[in-house]
Amino acid sequence: MPTTDWPDVQLHVVSGKGGTGKTTVASALALALARDGRRVLVMEVEGRQGLSQVFECPPLPYAERRLVTVSGGGEVWGLAIDPEEALLDYLELFYNLRRAGGVLRKMGAVEFVTTIAPGLRDVLLTGKAVELVRRSDKKHNTPYDAIVLDAPPTGRVTRFLNVNTEIAGVAKVGPIRQQADGVMAVLRSSRTAVHLVTILEEMPVQETIDGVAELHDSALPVGGIVINMMRPPLLPAGNCEVPAGAQLDAGLTAAGLTSTAPIIEALRGEAADHIARVTLEATERERLAVLDRPMYELPYLPGGMDLTGLQEMAGMLRNQGMA
Ligand SMILES: Nc1ncnc2c1ncn2[C@@H]1O[C@H](COP(=O)(O)OP(=O)(O)OP(=O)(O)O)[C@@H](O)[C@H]1O
Ligand SMILES: [Mg+2]
Repeated sequence: MPTTDWPDVQLHVVSGKGGTGKTTVASALALALARDGRRVLVMEVEGRQGLSQVFECPPLPYAERRLVTVSGGGEVWGLAIDPEEALLDYLELFYNLRRAGGVLRKMGAVEFVTTIAPGLRDVLLTGKAVELVRRSDKKHNTPYDAIVLDAPPTGRVTRFLNVNTEIAGVAKVGPIRQQADGVMAVLRSSRTAVHLVTILEEMPVQETIDGVAELHDSALPVGGIVINMMRPPLLPAGNCEVPAGAQLDAGLTAAGLTSTAPIIEALRGEAADHIARVTLEATERERLAVLDRPMYELPYLPGGMDLTGLQEMAGMLRNQGMA
C-alpha cells in the first residue's frame, strides 16, 4: 500500500485564507483519501453549499449523502452541517433530550444557540466532527476511514477548533465538561491535522504563517501547506531578464507574425510583469519553507473546476503523499 504523510490522521481540517481554494482542496483531498476502497466523509460547516457546487450535485441536506464512488470501490460522502439540527442531535446524543427540541425551538433557544451565541454554534460543529471520527472506535456499522472538514478561514480556525477549551474553563465538572475535554483530546491528538491552503501571494502567505503560529500556540496539530493555483513559469528557469526588442523582433518575424514597435513594447511589458510575479512567488515560497511543514502544490486549472479537474487534483495530492 502506498505510504502517505498522514498515516494516523482521521480528521483532516482544511483552512486557509478566504477564496484560496479551501472547499476545492478539501474535496480533492477527500477524493484522494478514498483510495483502496476507503470511505471518506467531507463536511462543510459554513452553510454555503460549496460541496454541492464542487461535486456538481443538488444541495446537501443535513444527512450524510454519497457523492461519488471512485475506482477501487472507495466512496466520498458529503455532509453540510446545519447548526440547528446539530443542536438537536446533540441534545439527543448527550442528554437524551431530542423531544425537548420542540420546546426549545418555541422558546427561541435554538435560534439563540445557532445565531446569537456563535461560540456554542462552534461547539456543536466541532462536536459533530469529532463524533464522526469516534464512530470508528465504537464499531459503528458505517464508520468512515477519514473525515475532511472544510473549515472556517485561517483568521477564525484556531478559535473555532479551540472553542471547547473555553467551555472547559466555564464548566468545571459534569457531562458538558467531559464532552468538551473529549472533543479537545481528539482535536489535539495525532488523529487530527490542520492543513492550510494558500496561494503564492504576500497576504495569503502571511495569513498562513500567522495561522501556523496560532495553531501551534493552542497546541493544535499543524498539518501540511497546500499551495493552490500555481501557474507554470513561461520563461526558462533562471531567466530573469526582459528580452531585448531585437530578440523579440527576430522571434516574431521567425514565427511569421507581425512585428511593430507597439507590439514589441507590449510584449516587453508582459515579460516584465511575469518576471516580477515569478520572483515574488519564489520569495513567498521561501517564507513558507521556513515553516518546515510538508508542502503540496496544485496548478491553476485554466478551464475552471469540474469533477474531472477535481479528480486530477486528487491524483496530484496522492502522488505528493498527502493521501
Ligand atoms: N486550482 C484551481 N484552479 C482553478 N480554479 C480554482 C482552483 N482552486 C480553486 N479554484 C476556483 O476558485 C474559486 C474559489 O475556490 P474555493 O471555493 O474552493 O475557495 P474557498 O477558499 O473555499 O472560498 P471561501 O473562502 O469563499 O469558502 C472557485 O471558483 C474554485 O472553482
Ligand atoms: Mg469554501
